[in-house]
Amino acid sequence: MDHDTIENLSHESRVFPPSPQFASQANAQPEMYAEAGADRLAFWEKQAAELQWETPWHTVLDWTNPPFARWFDGGKLNVAVNCVDRHVAAGHGDQVAYHFEGEPGDTRDITYADLLREVSQAANALESLGVKAGDRVAVYMPLIPEAAVAMLACARIGAVHSVVFGGYSAHALRARIEDAQAVLVITADGGHRKGKPMDLKSIVDEAVAASPSVKDVLVVKRTGHDVAWTDKDIWWHDLVGAQPETHEAQAFDAEHPLFILYTSGTTGQPKGILHTTGGYLTQVAYTHRNVFDIKPDTDIYWCTADVGWITGHSYSVYGPLANRATSLMYEGTPDTPHTGRWWELVEKHRVTILYTAPTAIRTFMKWGDAIPQSFDLSSLRLLGSVGEIINPEAWMWYRTVIGGDRCPIVDTWWQTETGAIMISPLPGVTATRPGSAMGPLPGISAAICDEEGNVVHEGHGGYLVLTEPWPSMLRGIWGDNDRYIATYWAHFAHLYFAGDGAKYDDDGDLWLLGRVDDVMNVSGHRLSTAEIESALVSHPSVAEAAVVGASDELTGQGIVAFVILISGVDAGDHIVSTLRNHVASEISAIAKPRQILIVQELPKTRSGKIMRRLLRDIAENRAVGDTTTLADANVMDLISAGLAAGTSTED
Ligand code: PRX
Repeated sequence: MDHDTIENLSHESRVFPPSPQFASQANAQPEMYAEAGADRLAFWEKQAAELQWETPWHTVLDWTNPPFARWFDGGKLNVAVNCVDRHVAAGHGDQVAYHFEGEPGDTRDITYADLLREVSQAANALESLGVKAGDRVAVYMPLIPEAAVAMLACARIGAVHSVVFGGYSAHALRARIEDAQAVLVITADGGHRKGKPMDLKSIVDEAVAASPSVKDVLVVKRTGHDVAWTDKDIWWHDLVGAQPETHEAQAFDAEHPLFILYTSGTTGQPKGILHTTGGYLTQVAYTHRNVFDIKPDTDIYWCTADVGWITGHSYSVYGPLANRATSLMYEGTPDTPHTGRWWELVEKHRVTILYTAPTAIRTFMKWGDAIPQSFDLSSLRLLGSVGEIINPEAWMWYRTVIGGDRCPIVDTWWQTETGAIMISPLPGVTATRPGSAMGPLPGISAAICDEEGNVVHEGHGGYLVLTEPWPSMLRGIWGDNDRYIATYWAHFAHLYFAGDGAKYDDDGDLWLLGRVDDVMNVSGHRLSTAEIESALVSHPSVAEAAVVGASDELTGQGIVAFVILISGVDAGDHIVSTLRNHVASEISAIAKPRQILIVQELPKTRSGKIMRRLLRDIAENRAVGDTTTLADANVMDLISAGLAAGTSTED
C-alpha cells in the first residue's frame, strides 16, 4: 500500500460537536462505549433483546470454530414478524412504512398493515409455487415496494433471497442465478429510469433460458409495456393478489440463512456473501436506531440506496422496518425530471434523516447550490454518508448547503460482508471531523495493522482489520468456505482483513484511505479489476487487458482499461466504443470503462503479474514510478511512446 498517502494526509482541524439539543435527545448516549467495553457479549445480548424471539438463545456467541461464527445460538425468530407483524400487533398498523414515489410521479403510501397483508399474500404465493425454507430466490427488481415485499416474503418462509441489482446484464444475472441454483426469479416488466421505461423482463428471459434451476418467474407489472411471455412466467398480481391475506409465520434458527448478496472480489468470479438471521437483524436494528437516531413516531427517514446493494438491504428494508420507521422510497434518478427532484421530495415529505453516498453529494455540488437552496430543507436533522470516502470538501458542502449547519453528519464505514455499520460517529455523542469515520461503534472492535499484523496507533496508517466477531458478520461465501477463509482471514492470523487502508490522525480519529487490493470503488459501487478484465478478454478482438481504478473527482474512482488487441484481427474503427458496450453487456453499464487505451504491451513482473501501480501512474497522468521489478524495462517507454503517437483511443 502507498505509505506516502498515509503520511501526507493533511491534518483536519475543524471539529463539529453535536449541539446540546441534539445530544440531550439522542438515542445513543456516551455511556454506551463503556458499557460495551465492559462486557461486549452482554451488550450484544441487550441489543438482541430488542427483537421479538420465539425461543431465546442459549449461547450468545459460539466462536469455537473460527472463522465460522454462530450468534444467538439456539434462538429462533422470524425476520418478517420482527419487521412487520409485531408493529401491527402493537397498534401501529396505520403508520406508513413506505411513502413510495415513482419516477413518473405516481405515489403510494404503504402502511404497516398494508405491508403485513402484502407480505402474507406473497409468502402464500411463494409456498403455492413450492418454494421451501432454504431454497434460493433471485430478486431482480426496480426500486418499488414489491421489492421489499418480495424480500420479506422470502424471509417469512425461510427462503434465501439473492437480490441482483436491476442494472446488471443478463450474463451477470445468469451467473448469480446459477451459482445460487435459484428456483424462482421475482422481477418486474421494467422500472422507470431517466424518464423512460427500463426493460427488465427481456433480460430475465435471456438469463432464465440458460438457467435450468429456475422453475418459475414471478413478474410485477410496473411499466405496463409489452413483454414477451414464457411458460415459466406468472404475473405477480394474478398469483399474489389471489392469495389469503394472512399467513402463519414459523420461527427460524438464528443461524438460518437469510440472504446471499453477490459482490465483487479480487477475482473475476463474484462472491455470494451469506448472511444469517438473528445476528444480522440485531446489528442492523441496533445501528439503525443509534447511528440514525431514529424516532419511529416522528421521523421521515430516507436511505437513497437501491435494494440491489447491501445498503438497500440493511438500511432501506430490514433496519428501518425492524425499528418501525417511516421511510421514503424513490424509484428514479436524481435528475429526473429535473435536478431538484431529491430536494423537492425532502420538502414534500418533510424528510428528517437522509442517508446517501458521496458520489451523489459531489454531483449535487457540481450542479450548484442554487438547486437545493430553492427548496425548504429545514425538516432535515441528521445526514449520513456511505460507500466511499467522503472528501472534506464534500462533507462541508453536505453540512452547510444540505444540512443548514445544524445536522450532525454520520460517515458510516461498512461492507457487504459486515452486513451493518461498523465504524461511524454516534450523532449525539461524537464531535466529528469532516472526512473522518471517527471510530468503531460500541460493540465493534477494529484496529489498524502494519504488514506484519502489529497494531499501529495515533498518527500512523496501515490495514483496517476487525479484531472480534460481530453479530451481522458474513457467515461465509456461498458454496466456497475455502475462498471465505483465504479472502478475509488469511492475511493476518485471527483477524478479519477488510481490504481497506486506514489511518489514525494525531487525535486517534480514524480515516479510511481506500482499497488496498484490486477492488475499485466507482460511485460507491464495488467492481473488481479482474471481473472487467475478463469481460474485456471475452471479446474476440482482445488478447489481453489490464484494468485500474484512477482517481476521479466525481465518482471517486474511474475505470481505465489498457487493452492489447489480437494482431491481424481487424478490430474496426469503433473498437473503443464496441469494447465499452461489450463490458456493459457482460457485467453492467456501471462497469463501462471511463477510458480504454489500446497498447502493444503491458508492464509485468518476472512472475507475470501485471504492475497496476505503473498503469495507474499513466491513468492519473503522473510520472511513472519505480520500474526496477519489471521483466522488460522498456515496456513503459513503449506504452508512453505509443500513447504519445496517438495509438490510444479515448472515448
Ligand atoms: O472500501 C470501502 C468502501 O466500500 C467498501 C465496501 O463496499 P460494499 O461492500 O459495496 O458496501 C458499500 C456500502 C456499505 C469498503 O471496503 N466504503 C464503504 N463505506 C465507506 C467506504 N470507504 C470510506 N468511507 C466509508 N464510509
